[in-house]
Amino acid sequence: MSIPNKVRFALVGAGIIGNQHGTVMRELADELDLVAVVDLDRAKADKIAAQYGGTVYTSLPEALAGTDFDAVAVCTPTGAHAEVAIEALHSGKHVIIEKPAEVTLAKTDEIIAAQQQAGTLVTVISQHRFDPSTEIVLEAIRKGELGRLTSGIASIDWWRGQTYYDSGDWRGTWALDGGGALMNQGVHTVDLLVAALGNPVEVFAYTATLAHERIEVEDVAVGVVKFESGALGVLHGSTAAFPGLSARLQVHGDKGSAVIDNDKLTYIHTTPQGTESTEAFFGSSGPSNQLDQYDLGNDRAAAAGANPGQLSDAHRHQYLNFLAALRGDEEIRVGLAENRRSVSVILAAYESARTGQPVSLRQSGTAQPKDQTS
Ligand SMILES: NC(=O)c1ccc[n+]([C@@H]2O[C@H](COP(=O)([O-])OP(=O)(O)OC[C@H]3O[C@@H](n4cnc5c(N)ncnc54)[C@H](O)[C@@H]3O)[C@@H](O)[C@H]2O)c1
Repeated sequence: MSIPNKVRFALVGAGIIGNQHGTVMRELADELDLVAVVDLDRAKADKIAAQYGGTVYTSLPEALAGTDFDAVAVCTPTGAHAEVAIEALHSGKHVIIEKPAEVTLAKTDEIIAAQQQAGTLVTVISQHRFDPSTEIVLEAIRKGELGRLTSGIASIDWWRGQTYYDSGDWRGTWALDGGGALMNQGVHTVDLLVAALGNPVEVFAYTATLAHERIEVEDVAVGVVKFESGALGVLHGSTAAFPGLSARLQVHGDKGSAVIDNDKLTYIHTTPQGTESTEAFFGSSGPSNQLDQYDLGNDRAAAAGANPGQLSDAHRHQYLNFLAALRGDEEIRVGLAENRRSVSVILAAYESARTGQPVSLRQSGTAQPKDQTS
């Protein structure tokens, strides 16, 4: 499928995150056009289309029949991602899917199979992969500047009121949300932990529902992850931590450590190749923070008129990667296999909490991220 100068998008799912995609599409109007807005609820689609453009439809098949487009942004509830994405892929479209790609690995695999058949591009939103803080930490790890990775912590200490869960029938259900604090809210930070520490091989977890009613899923999850490298990880996902604190990633190695708190790099200490860390009987903190040596992306954010980590700003960088991949200039940075690997940790945590046993990921067909099949 040849790509026109301006990529024509259909947006499916005109809810909270659909509105963010609309904002990003407007910011990128030089490179793309929003030509169709689809929602089962016409009034919601009308509202988004009035703000950002596009012809309104109440189903993807209607939109496919009525308007030409090249790519589809899937912003429906998670358990309705596969049906929309697969329909789009079968029609030869490129696809952006909101996180997480789906609620089960089997459904994710169905999307992967449809993509392989279509030969088009798919990215799964994980906007914090594109934060300057994340890029700095992952680059330091790639260069070996944290040394041998030893441990990491993904902690989401958030609060969601009962009104949040009551705001949509799908929220807090296994079928459509796929999980609670760890899946819906925590998937970003778990994805960063996995991006940092590599292939996960075993998970043990407890989950509980302690501060909310009328939800099937957990509002607190704690767990541990063993990685192939030997590194150990801690998971803590909560929507029951009033009044809501931060999402935090810590990564530690024998030559350095890094902390990202609420998308900002708050601590980093590295030992660049060719230098030696000082042998210390005891470690010390404080002066070892090397934050001032890094470009924290404030210039990039200022140029975009945004704060680092702001939702539309981060989505915008993932959109830019997708558009560059369509032109053949870049590789897709977060594809289905990457998302599958992170979601497999969360689903293993749920299975462990149900069975009381550690869950091995070696047998679950956890994909090695070798993204983009086209
Ligand atoms: N990347 C992020 O930071 C982020 C933030 C919030 C939500 N999300 C993800 O975005 C997705 C949607 O979440 P939300 O909070 O916007 O939900 P929402 O309920 O606000 O919006 C979902 C919309 O999809 C519509 N819809 C449902 N099934 C449909 C179908 N088959 N075809 C067309 N429209 C359909 C609904 O009518 C609704 O308007 C979820 O997967 C969620 O995990 C991502």
